Amino acid sequence: MANPERFLLAGVMGWPVMHSRSPKLHNYWFEKYGLAGSYVPLAVKPEGLRTALRALPSLCFSGCNLTIPHKQAAMAIVDENDLIARKIGAISCVVVRPDGSLLGSNNDCYGFIHNIVQEFPDWRADTGPAVVIGAGGGARAVVYALAERGAREIRLINRTFAHAQRIVEEFGGPITVVPWQERHISLAGAAMLVNATSQGMVGNPPLDLNLAKLPQNALVADIIYIPRETALLAAARAHGNRTISGLGMLLHQGRPAWKAWFGVEPEVTPELHALLAATIPQSWQA
Ligand SMILES: NC(=O)c1ccc[n+]([C@@H]2O[C@H](COP(=O)([O-])OP(=O)(O)OC[C@H]3O[C@@H](n4cnc5c(N)ncnc54)[C@H](OP(=O)(O)O)[C@@H]3O)[C@@H](O)[C@H]2O)c1
Repeated sequence: MANPERFLLAGVMGWPVMHSRSPKLHNYWFEKYGLAGSYVPLAVKPEGLRTALRALPSLCFSGCNLTIPHKQAAMAIVDENDLIARKIGAISCVVVRPDGSLLGSNNDCYGFIHNIVQEFPDWRADTGPAVVIGAGGGARAVVYALAERGAREIRLINRTFAHAQRIVEEFGGPITVVPWQERHISLAGAAMLVNATSQGMVGNPPLDLNLAKLPQNALVADIIYIPRETALLAAARAHGNRTISGLGMLLHQGRPAWKAWFGVEPEVTPELHALLAATIPQSWQA
């Protein structure tokens, strides 16, 4: 399948960027699908973002992913942002179109949902209330995705109430903001709990959440992927809940990017999951 005319290129722009697992993911797919190409970490400082993005077409890049701190700033640089990106207010992916213009998109919603559906094919968003903790970029993607999949009640909880309130005002729909101090009791009757804060990520303390009121049949998701099992997921597992980590979300969000860049929709297989997981500390205690 190698294309003799062209070496395929994409990358991830961030500052810092060398921690990113994306090159391992995308280069695995180049190998697997027999395409001549490479995906590289692009260490781009904020002041260089415009020049770097605008250079993509001349350098024959098909596009790039964006990570901290570029996800919002890039929206004002690209030529167009798709509807989901505009709703979420951040882009995670840039596609170079045939005319050299740049399209911004956000594949975090896709990644969040497809990770769950692959792991738990019987999961549905409308089986009961979902509790989402957090109101940053990741949480916005999660809330948008759940609402799109038909969730009928989303209880949104965030340390800073106003940030959650802003999401309700922008998104509308089945979202209710619950005050931070009521987070423990808000778990009563929930069918799903999602941590979309940075609490529990390596270097941060665990999310302060008592699971006593959470029904045992609720699915607990953490969008954090370093470590592989956060303290929240370990506690949920001990409580009897099904759990899912954020690594699969990261892997799945790469699929629509590949489809747009290279015309191939790659698979997330157990082998790929294990390959990436092996590069990440297993436990929050590690
Ligand atoms: N798996 C994936 O593909 C994927 C995709 C996106 C993000 N993520 C992960 O999700 C996490 C959040 O990312 P993000 O981009 O949404 O970050 P962000 O926009 O900076 O939002 C951070 C969130 O964490 C909350 N928070 C921060 N410190 C807190 C504390 N001490 N106590 C309680 N809440 C606190 C913030 O609340 P305030 O509003 O009060 O500040 C906010 O809701 C990161 O670990 C990131 O790596 C994973």
